[in-house]
Amino acid sequence: MNSTATNTTLHVVLGASGAVGSALMGELARQGLPARAVSRTRPTALPAGTDWLAADLSSAPSVERAVQGAGVVYLAAQPAYTRWALDFPPILDAVIGGVGRVGARLVFADNLYSYGPVTTPLREDSPERPQSRKGQVRLALARTLLDAHRAGVLPVTIGRASDFYGPGVHGSLVGAPFFRAIVAGKRPPWIERSDQLHSFSFIDDVARGLVTLAQHGPAFGEVWHLPAAEALTATGFAALIAQEAQTAPPRPRALSGLPLRALALFSPLIRELADVQYQVAAPFTVDGTRFTSTFGGQPTPHRSAIRQTLAWLRAGSLEPSPAEEVAGSPL
Ligand SMILES: NC(=O)c1ccc[n+]([C@@H]2O[C@H](COP(=O)([O-])OP(=O)(O)OC[C@H]3O[C@@H](n4cnc5c(N)ncnc54)[C@H](OP(=O)(O)O)[C@@H]3O)[C@@H](O)[C@H]2O)c1
Repeated sequence: MNSTATNTTLHVVLGASGAVGSALMGELARQGLPARAVSRTRPTALPAGTDWLAADLSSAPSVERAVQGAGVVYLAAQPAYTRWALDFPPILDAVIGGVGRVGARLVFADNLYSYGPVTTPLREDSPERPQSRKGQVRLALARTLLDAHRAGVLPVTIGRASDFYGPGVHGSLVGAPFFRAIVAGKRPPWIERSDQLHSFSFIDDVARGLVTLAQHGPAFGEVWHLPAAEALTATGFAALIAQEAQTAPPRPRALSGLPLRALALFSPLIRELADVQYQVAAPFTVDGTRFTSTFGGQPTPHRSAIRQTLAWLRAGSLEPSPAEEVAGSPL
């Protein structure tokens, strides 16, 4: 493996119509790096001159076509939130096989579910003890990827982030529905406790972090926590958004206890959220210092990131997207 990607290396983004996929396409364009977008549906916005290819990643031949010519591949695709256990493993197998065969390196956009409940800020060496079904799936994905790296099938690096917010983010606790409620002077949706410290990851920082990992040989074979600005409570985060939106500070409308369990009986999505409620019932924060001390850079301050998110909403995303209408917000 080359230790650095050159300016002519082709970067292929799998899941380019999603939140981190779109942000990755933007970051690659900003850095002037050749990129190809891959998803089943056409991304709503692509940087000028970008190539888009339709592919279903659960099909190995489709993946192989999609990654032809790539030097770096980002796995930023995910199946529907309620179908990870069924649909993620075949996607991962097809991606490992396809990327390995073209001799590219793989960057996986991961979350923090594999650790399970914690009492201290999450570091890369925190024990992975998932107690949720979704956490077990994520641990298995990461292990499969790192095993493939160790077996020499392909170079893999994993960048983990907390809940996303920012332009293009719909499916997240603090995605567009959370912001929209505050802009409309309403209480934003939340689950469990809104008074516990939580990390919120700005989507452009996540994309920049993943591109940084792709460009550093020593990043491979390892897990990295992508830096996020200071942890806040959901109430504190909502107040900051309200200040920037010039609306009254709202108290998040937190669903918990019996109402949460009752709704979970009827809604598969709420059931999945109840499975990982430990992340919002107690402090859940990420420590990105290993990344910043190795590669430099600092996360965007929340105020600036919130301003960019509000500008995106006002430019056309104040109404739910068709995908949100279909999938429902995470709450
Ligand atoms: N959302 C968060 O707050 C958050 C936080 C930390 C980490 N993460 C992780 O980051 C990764 C990306 O998340 P995201 O929120 O950016 O995802 P997302 O917005 O839900 O987008 C998912 C992408 O995957 C594509 N996709 C799904 N199934 C596919 C298939 N069979 N073939 C081809 N493309 C497929 C979708 O496109 P089409 O439907 O057009 O194919 C879409 O582009 C995930 O692993 C996620 O768990 C998310």
